[in-house]
Amino acid sequence: MAEDRTQGQKPPVERRKHKRIPIALKIFLGYLITIVLVLISNFYLFHKMKILMELGNQIGRSVEFVAQERDVQHLADDMNRQYLAYISAYSQKFKDEYTKKYVAEAPGKILNKIEQIRQVENSLHFLDPQILEQINGYLDTLAMAVSPPERQRWDEAFKNLAFLLEKSIVDAQAQTQRLLARSREITASAIRGGILLMLAMLVLSAGIAYLIAKRISRPIAHLRQATRYARQGKYNIRVPFESHDEIADLTADFNAMMDALGELDRMKAMFLSSITHDLKSPLYRVRLGIENLVDGIHGSLNPEQMRTLEQILTDLDTLSRLIYDILDLQKLESGRFELHLEDVKIEDFVRETVRKHAISFADKGVGLAMKLKLKDVVVRMDVRQIERVFENLLSNALKFTPRGGKVVVIGGVDGDYVHFVVKDNGPGMTKEEAERVFDKFYRASTGKNVSGTGLGLAITKQIIEAHRGKIWVETEPGRGSEFHFLIPLAR
Ligand SMILES: Nc1ncnc2c1ncn2[C@@H]1O[C@H](COP(=O)(O)OP(=O)(O)O)[C@@H](O)[C@H]1O
Ligand SMILES: [Mg+2]
Repeated sequence: MAEDRTQGQKPPVERRKHKRIPIALKIFLGYLITIVLVLISNFYLFHKMKILMELGNQIGRSVEFVAQERDVQHLADDMNRQYLAYISAYSQKFKDEYTKKYVAEAPGKILNKIEQIRQVENSLHFLDPQILEQINGYLDTLAMAVSPPERQRWDEAFKNLAFLLEKSIVDAQAQTQRLLARSREITASAIRGGILLMLAMLVLSAGIAYLIAKRISRPIAHLRQATRYARQGKYNIRVPFESHDEIADLTADFNAMMDALGELDRMKAMFLSSITHDLKSPLYRVRLGIENLVDGIHGSLNPEQMRTLEQILTDLDTLSRLIYDILDLQKLESGRFELHLEDVKIEDFVRETVRKHAISFADKGVGLAMKLKLKDVVVRMDVRQIERVFENLLSNALKFTPRGGKVVVIGGVDGDYVHFVVKDNGPGMTKEEAERVFDKFYRASTGKNVSGTGLGLAITKQIIEAHRGKIWVETEPGRGSEFHFLIPLAR
């Protein structure tokens, strides 16, 4: 079932020719894209800042202009006062020396002021040239109205000049306000844009990082999964190619290694099965011969000879059990194995099977009990094989549980399955051992001084899986073992 997940992948198992992109390059490109994104947002902010700086300069100039125009206003007011004083002195017809001197000097001073105003105005770059021209015109008129004094002409020109000065100040202030408003607007939009850009960049670079990480880690996960299957002796796994980098190279090597391992496994199996096959008949003949000897067909034997021959027969038993176990496992694993399914009343079947072991349990002094809740439950199964499952589990429980211990067989219905537990209070196993007990030829530390082949549980597992069931062990060192298995109920 689990194999299908890896094998059923869409990506091709054959490696297609494609430009190779090393992992380092992928990561580098990812960084590069992120850096470009950062640069783009920096350029945006830089651009906005440049506009703001230019606006700041304009605002500064505008404020300065207003200050200068205000100075000019003061100067002009002074000048006007002076003119008015001059006019009134002039109309007194030089009553005394002082007035005479004053009237003589005043025009020069006034013209001087006019000149000052003209200079300041001409130096103001910010001033509209048309207005400047008008101001200069009024200044000319004012200069002409000084001497001889023409009061009416002066007043009119001065009124116009004052109006123009005020107007240019008001305009400049309005312009300052506009510039300030714009700079506020630009600042706000830069903040908004900056935040949006940052968010977009965050999402984009996180997305890119995720994609790259996924493209790298997914094939590694598949390799890892396949390695786990291989550890369980399943060599028919091939890892699909999903990238064009070092991992693809690794995948190619891995698949090649699996080919080699599979081939090795097949050769080993063939070798084992041909040897065991060839051993079967000579073994049979040896046993026959020895049985004849024991039966006294070739003459009577002394007790010493008899004991030796009986020992040989026991050893032969072990040997043939090993050979048959290997052959059976081979058959089960190759899938050439056929189940002879029939509907069985499971409770009766289990009681009978367990009872067969009662004597050997009693001999060793280990208790054997049953807790079955399976009345009228029917299971479709191969009787001979399930018998073997119980045999293997019970013989293990007996073998590894010391005298005085206790073994319980528990059975009940669990969903669509019958659930059995063979539970002992023997030595138990470590987690690492428990993970491997279903492997072929594996024997845990508990099996050190006890005879066995390490094939019993491997065969048991194959039988249960052939029935579409499940088997597992729950155990802890010093606290006994529970072997659980499920068999589907008959529909
Ligand atoms: N009930 C049990 N208690 C402790 N260890 C067990 C038990 N059943 C199995 N084992 C361990 O699992 C190993 C594999 O069991 P099995 O495949 O039946 O091989 P065998 O019985 O030939 O040793 C045993 O060698 C033993 O170390
Ligand atoms: Mg065994």
